[in-house]
Amino acid sequence: MDEHLIATINKLQDALAPLGGGSQSPIDLPQITVVGSQSSGKSSVLENIVGRDFLPRGTGIVTRRPLVLQLINRRRKKDDSNKSNLTDELLDLNIDDKKKEDGKSQSEDNAEEWGEFLHLPGKKIYNFNEIRQEIVKETEKVTGVNAGISPVPINLRIYSPYVLTLTLVDLPGLTKVPVGDQPPDIEKQIKDMLLKYISKPNAIILSVNAANTDLANSDGLKLAREVDPEGTRTIGVLTKVDLMDQGTDVIDILAGRVIPLRYGYIPVINRGQKDIEKNKTIRDALRDEKKFFEEHPSYSSKAHYCGTPYLAKKLNSILLHHIRQTLPDIKAKIEATLKKYQQELYNLGPETMDSSNSIVLSMITDFSNEYGGILDGEAKELSSQEL
Ligand code: GDP
Ligand code: NA
Ligand code: MG
Repeated sequence: MDEHLIATINKLQDALAPLGGGSQSPIDLPQITVVGSQSSGKSSVLENIVGRDFLPRGTGIVTRRPLVLQLINRRRKKDDSNKSNLTDELLDLNIDDKKKEDGKSQSEDNAEEWGEFLHLPGKKIYNFNEIRQEIVKETEKVTGVNAGISPVPINLRIYSPYVLTLTLVDLPGLTKVPVGDQPPDIEKQIKDMLLKYISKPNAIILSVNAANTDLANSDGLKLAREVDPEGTRTIGVLTKVDLMDQGTDVIDILAGRVIPLRYGYIPVINRGQKDIEKNKTIRDALRDEKKFFEEHPSYSSKAHYCGTPYLAKKLNSILLHHIRQTLPDIKAKIEATLKKYQQELYNLGPETMDSSNSIVLSMITDFSNEYGGILDGEAKELSSQEL
């Protein structure tokens, strides 16, 4: 049921993409949007949540177009163990060993995980390096090679048994000084792009801040507070905890004594630039992250609430909670959109019906038919809970 709920939202997101997609979508779909300064570790956090290397990342402005990333949990056919704890699977270090036993190398790609781009319909990409290359290619196609940015999103779905079903949006980082082909007002352009995504009431804001910088000066948090002053849909992530000066920690921030957020902060450790150059695997990084928090005197007593697997779990539950709360509104807007399109097509007459329009219309109709009942059920369930 829960998986179905998010899967249907994903379907609708795709159906609406031809109408302007992403930030221009007429229907405000719940999704998790990543904001923070350039190089604070946003793309690294997303990669760790997905558990695969596939995002361009590094120092400087690497993410230059929004990436709407739909993660879809896909059970393995042979998996009869009925594991409910996916984050345990994420950390299941045996996986690499099993692959070795099968005679495959760790880097060899297999058929249980793949990506699909909306701009390459029907093409399953099993090689995650190829996914990264496609993101770079698509970015450059629209923005050029010299640090330009564009608000036109890239839509990517990742199917895998190792991810929790989530929709995430990676965005360019906040920056002040123009470089390369960037316009003089680059700061404002990026800010406006981020605001378009995070000002929607259905956006959950993942505010990424490097732990070795001052939280009070965080541009990402400032922006989040502009659109969510009460902090009711912002969750904080503290990266680079491994780079903090000896004897310092993020305990005051975690305890809500610096800038409190309703959903709190989660400290994580991603791979550093050296780790990336040495091809350290994500599984090794997750294992080291776990060990770091368990053994660190400041965090050992709360290690359960630290690290990437906990972040992924928490994001999944926040997203579900949010979707349930907004279901009645989404349903009303879908019905209004459907009516509007039916009317437009009716006015145009059948002979002028352009094929892309009719595809969109039929997808929205399918969605409404398939999902209307469930939405009604959910809405009833919610209102009876409220009574
Ligand atoms: P983005 O610009 O916010 O998307 O940041 P990236 O994910 O591209 O990361 C910027 C740089 O910081 C890369 O070189 C990463 O390897 C490094 N980095 C990110 N997170 C961490 C972390 O938790 N610890 C360390 N040591 N380095 C990190
Ligand atoms: Na970067
Ligand atoms: Mg990035």
